[in-house]
Amino acid sequence: MVKRIILLLAISISLNGMLKADEGMWIPMLLEKYNIEQMQEMGFKLSAEDVYSVNQACLKDAVVIFGRGCTGELISDKGLLVTNHHCGYGEIQYHSSVENDYLTNGFWAMSPEEELVNPDLTVTFLKRMEDVTDRVLEGVSDDMKSVDREKKIKENIAAIKAEAVKDTHYTAVLKPFFNGNQYFLFINEIFKDVRLVGAPPSAMGKFGGDTDNWMWPRHTADFSMFRIYADKDNKPAKYSKDNVPYKPAKHFSVSMKGVEEGDFTMVFGYPGSTYQYVPSYHLEMLTETINPKLIDVRTEKLDIMNRYQEADPAVRIQYAAKNARISNSWKRWIGENRGLEILDAINKKRTYEKNFQAWSDANAKEYSNVLAQYKKVYDEYSNYRLAYGYYREMIPSNGMEIASLANKMDVLKAIYKAEKVDEQAVGKLKEQLLKKVDLFFKDYYKPLDKELTAKLLGMYAANIDAEFQPEVYGVINGKYKGDVDKYVDMLFAKSIFDTKESVVEFVNAFNAKSIKKLEKDPAYILNASFNKVYNEVIYPELNKQKLNKLNRQYMAAQMKFEDDRVFYPDANFTLRVSYGQVKGYNPRDAVYYKHFTTLEGIIEKDNPDIYDYRVPEKLKELYEAKDYGRYEVEGTVPVCFIATNHTTGGNSGSPVLNAEGHLIGINFDRAWEGVMSDLMFNPDQCRNISLDMRYVLFIIDKFAGAGYLLDEMTIVE
Ligand code: ARG
Ligand code: GLU
Repeated sequence: MVKRIILLLAISISLNGMLKADEGMWIPMLLEKYNIEQMQEMGFKLSAEDVYSVNQACLKDAVVIFGRGCTGELISDKGLLVTNHHCGYGEIQYHSSVENDYLTNGFWAMSPEEELVNPDLTVTFLKRMEDVTDRVLEGVSDDMKSVDREKKIKENIAAIKAEAVKDTHYTAVLKPFFNGNQYFLFINEIFKDVRLVGAPPSAMGKFGGDTDNWMWPRHTADFSMFRIYADKDNKPAKYSKDNVPYKPAKHFSVSMKGVEEGDFTMVFGYPGSTYQYVPSYHLEMLTETINPKLIDVRTEKLDIMNRYQEADPAVRIQYAAKNARISNSWKRWIGENRGLEILDAINKKRTYEKNFQAWSDANAKEYSNVLAQYKKVYDEYSNYRLAYGYYREMIPSNGMEIASLANKMDVLKAIYKAEKVDEQAVGKLKEQLLKKVDLFFKDYYKPLDKELTAKLLGMYAANIDAEFQPEVYGVINGKYKGDVDKYVDMLFAKSIFDTKESVVEFVNAFNAKSIKKLEKDPAYILNASFNKVYNEVIYPELNKQKLNKLNRQYMAAQMKFEDDRVFYPDANFTLRVSYGQVKGYNPRDAVYYKHFTTLEGIIEKDNPDIYDYRVPEKLKELYEAKDYGRYEVEGTVPVCFIATNHTTGGNSGSPVLNAEGHLIGINFDRAWEGVMSDLMFNPDQCRNISLDMRYVLFIIDKFAGAGYLLDEMTIVE
């Protein structure tokens, strides 16, 4: 204990307050310069070169983008990979049928032949990154007109990317950092043959469901396993039975040593987006307008869905994924608002801005107008942002389903509007469309959608300014005298989009003459009228990107204002390192949350009457028999743990490493009290939630009987 206090003192003295511990999503290439000293003082035993290097195999060679929005990591020299269950969910669902319900029962390939092929799944390795700021900004000056500036930058980027991957099978990604003050190039290698190896049943992989989502204490075995295949030269290749397991340059050793409070821990993955440097006006917009309004509309959606889902088990399954998607952000927004309020975040920003203004008035007059301009832009922008957010809730983001189905017909319409109709293309398109229609109706319950449609139309009218109201309200308010229910009755009576039979028939018979019929369909009209507002009113204004220049200037200015602070760039779905400590927290008065959970907690939560808390029999048997093998710790099995690592969406599936760089956990969530960390980090409340690797190994070995997978791992006991 004494030792730890001395250590902490040493940290705060040596870094002189320039670097905060815990907060930050750091650029792997720059650890040597900014972070490694602090990391090592906190206990990390490796060097910056061990984490990221272009000269030697390093930890970054074992981290991948999994699919489009998650992270994964390699845990064997035969291409074996782990990520979250919720990241592999689509693949698990894709292979599931009533006969082979892998979502419910789990799936384990007991040999390579049993692994399942996933047509559209890719994993992406980072080969190297490079600061290309100077080249991106070549020929660009600050007094250029915005459009010209953007155009020049675009050209430069295209040229740099093309040159970087010329004559290789790599792909290039080039992204702005610090709001366009810096640019990095990323050279990637993308693998296309990635097979499903294993997943626990949802009752474990999703244990706690949406009830426990974003919450600690947590007991979710949120993992799934895949294997990357390559051609005989270890290069990416499309699926072929001749492909062989990929040999990565590096894979993580899996540690069974576990974690103690205070231990060093780091997360290495792909955080999606954060907004740390926005002005107070942004926080006002979010906390006072956008979050509350969008929370309200989703509360109504969830109320309707929950009611129908509780009444009918078939509907419960149909709407399970939709409900989860809606509730995920809904719950995060509620937590975000609460967290920002408790932090007094707006006032903190205001105080900061006052000091900033005084500094810039005295020392950097070129920035003296930035905040005033921000205020002006946000006054208008907020309305458009809200309209945009609400529009998304109406149709694209799990809104009125019948309208979103009608929306899918636009591709057919487009093909018949073309001068020469490509009959072959039509055939293919119809086929694809019919597949979508099939999937749509598999998970569609008309009475629910009808109620939802009426509710959403009413809410949009009540919450969104007249200038954003689509023409369809003219009909509702005119012919239907404002009676939304009556309008919706007509809509569902007249539209062809409410039954599968009529839609299939319509698609099959579609030809040039069908366009008229389509354009008369009330569901199509409804969809088109919302799209029109989006395309003609909302999008053009948002696309002017009035904030871009201000954001760039304000970022640069803040870096000058606090010239002794080391800044990290906002998350932008590029590879980052976060580091901190394993640590509990006080969520509220008198309550302390410990840093880890165990199997005991799963059994405590077990309740056959609550869908989210049904513990599989097999797990209960292992518990009764205390059959824990080498995974036992003090009479139980560790399940999840929390730490102070700064993470966000996209970090799902990220490796959580100990001081030796060994894998101790898989990141999958944040604790609710700390989800405002996307905007402002609070070291007392912000915790990332990880699945303990010992529980993962226990499940593979004892629960699934797939212990053979452990043989290819490097396990450190
Ligand atoms: N909150 C986590 C994330 O943002 C998990 C989401 C999936 N789980 C769920 N119960 N909906 O991705
Ligand atoms: N579940 C989140 C994801 O998809 C991670 C949680 C977070 O936002 O930190 O990435």
